Amino acid sequence: MSHETPDRLQPQPPLPIVIVGHVDHGKSTLIGRLLHDTGSLPDGKFEELRRQSDRRGVAFEWSFVMDAFQIERDQGITVDTSRIWFTSEHRDYVIIDAPGHKEFLKNMVTGAAGADAAILVIDAVQGVSEQTRRHAYLLSLLGVAQIVVTVNKMDLVGYSRQRFEAVAAEIRGYLANLDVVPETVIPIVARDGDNLTGAEAGEATAMPWWQGPSLVEALDGFRPRPALLDQPLRLPVQDIYRHGDSRIVVGRVESGRLRVGDSVSFSPGQQVARVQSIRSWGSPEHVSAAAGQAVALTLDDEIFVERGHIAAPPESPPQQDNVLQVRLFWLDEVPLEAGDRLIMKLATGRHTVFVQSLDRVIDIEDLKSGLADRVAQNGVAQVTLRSQSKVAFDPHDAIAATGRAVLVRNHRIVGGCVVEAAAQAAASRNLTSVPQTVSGEERALANGHRGGVLWLTGLSGSGKSTLAMALQRRLFERGQQVYVLDGDNVRQGLNRDLGFSPVERSENIRRIAEVARLFADSGTLVVTAFISPYREDRDIARDIIADGFREVYVEADLAICEERDPKGLYKRARAGEIADFTGISAPYEEPVSPDLRLDTGSLSVDAALTVLVEEIDRAFMTPRGERRAAG
Ligand code: ADX
Repeated sequence: MSHETPDRLQPQPPLPIVIVGHVDHGKSTLIGRLLHDTGSLPDGKFEELRRQSDRRGVAFEWSFVMDAFQIERDQGITVDTSRIWFTSEHRDYVIIDAPGHKEFLKNMVTGAAGADAAILVIDAVQGVSEQTRRHAYLLSLLGVAQIVVTVNKMDLVGYSRQRFEAVAAEIRGYLANLDVVPETVIPIVARDGDNLTGAEAGEATAMPWWQGPSLVEALDGFRPRPALLDQPLRLPVQDIYRHGDSRIVVGRVESGRLRVGDSVSFSPGQQVARVQSIRSWGSPEHVSAAAGQAVALTLDDEIFVERGHIAAPPESPPQQDNVLQVRLFWLDEVPLEAGDRLIMKLATGRHTVFVQSLDRVIDIEDLKSGLADRVAQNGVAQVTLRSQSKVAFDPHDAIAATGRAVLVRNHRIVGGCVVEAAAQAAASRNLTSVPQTVSGEERALANGHRGGVLWLTGLSGSGKSTLAMALQRRLFERGQQVYVLDGDNVRQGLNRDLGFSPVERSENIRRIAEVARLFADSGTLVVTAFISPYREDRDIARDIIADGFREVYVEADLAICEERDPKGLYKRARAGEIADFTGISAPYEEPVSPDLRLDTGSLSVDAALTVLVEEIDRAFMTPRGERRAAG
């Protein structure tokens, strides 16, 4: 296989590692000292920093090395912004620098730098802190299974073996619950270089009782992650360029390999084309490309491809679904709640999602999980996300790069997640579809019309129910199959368990949409009368019902609805007796481009009915049905 190794990949790439732990537990000191002791600092750097601190009259500290790097970065001297290299006798390492918690998560999740291994730093005095647990949890969440734990500042506990063993036992216990077994737990004094490189072996050390490996020796025992080359191809599309007549698809191969002549399918949608050419920047045409390479492809067919699509082998495409089960890590001060809307960035794709349910919230302290109605800052939860558009993804444990995502709200990263599964993967729940023995065409032939749904949306009192019921009467008298689904009715039966919070309204609409779809499938003309105040919920209804969905905005000013107040509810809502009342204390999002708009403030019921019947005829009538309706 070696002949296929792309030229850009070195035979022995550096092992990416991440150093994590509580802010005060000595990460920066460890990195500075590690670079020095492995001879990885630029020549003269150490002396220069020493002189600088002497001049300023402060005692030298190893964390100054990191500060110096940071200054160079800020001044643009160091080009590579977040990577620090060091070399042991056995190989090269690149430290994915993780100064702040947020940056750490961002780096890990965006995969800008997926680590193969991690050093978890714990202060010998402080012991295992909440942040230690959080970071450990994140490592396991993101699949960084190779971990070495260092118990730092052993000098402050008098090099006590007993204290070391207590801390080691505590962290081992916690990691065991995460199914993580650390390679080893090492007592160190980062500042003095104790047990960092093993160079002190044989000398009189401060911890003669320690017989285990040094930190670097432990690191040298780690293996790179299983080769991405052996996984199926995943090439998230970054961009499409036009160049003369040809269209060029640009992206980075995240896993697997690709050859000229291969068929690739683009998800979601799974349209297939053949690869005609492969280029990468600054090099001539390739016959193949592999994980890690950025490439520009041309295809033999003008299929629809856009940013966010994932190219894959047609026989092993990513999954695609609207509903995803994720394990989520929340960073924002404002807690996450069911019903919240977020942008999910998965590989190069960008999706509007909303939180359908918080399924379990996990307590980082004891890893117990339970039900809760919010996820607080730094909390972890299992969550069901619903996307407006289909999302192409892989379960994170199968292919990491296309199985994790960043969550954004108001242009800020507010969390990260890894995808566990599609919530609706029917196949995985042993379900298959049983075909009907009467087809849609046969039903349409018998009825003179196809089944379909007129979805009436609008404020309470706008006239939805009145119009729906009058329309039903008229269609019935024309001999058509028709049925009205109405909010007040359905909420007394099927949806009696639902209230009026955003999530409950979403679920209300989802169920109605599924029911309406079944009715439509049976050949019936369905007229629904639900406030359905959220655009996203109506879009979901449109997705569920698909072809036969027509959105009708029953429009009337709030003032008019409130004056009509057929059920006396506005009065009660104004008096504060009804919470979350649409138009008063809960929003109504107007349709942007409905199929039909009826202003019931100015139209008579009869005039509105005429328009509705015309819409039904246009959308659902078959030729025979039209003759029958006319006669
Ligand atoms: S929806 O928002 O979830 O679509 P739906 O149409 O099912 O609402 O139910 C609306 C009906 O429930 C109203 O016509 C009214 O009779 C009743 N109702 C009771 N409480 C509320 C409320 N807080 N907001 C709106 N309607 C309410």
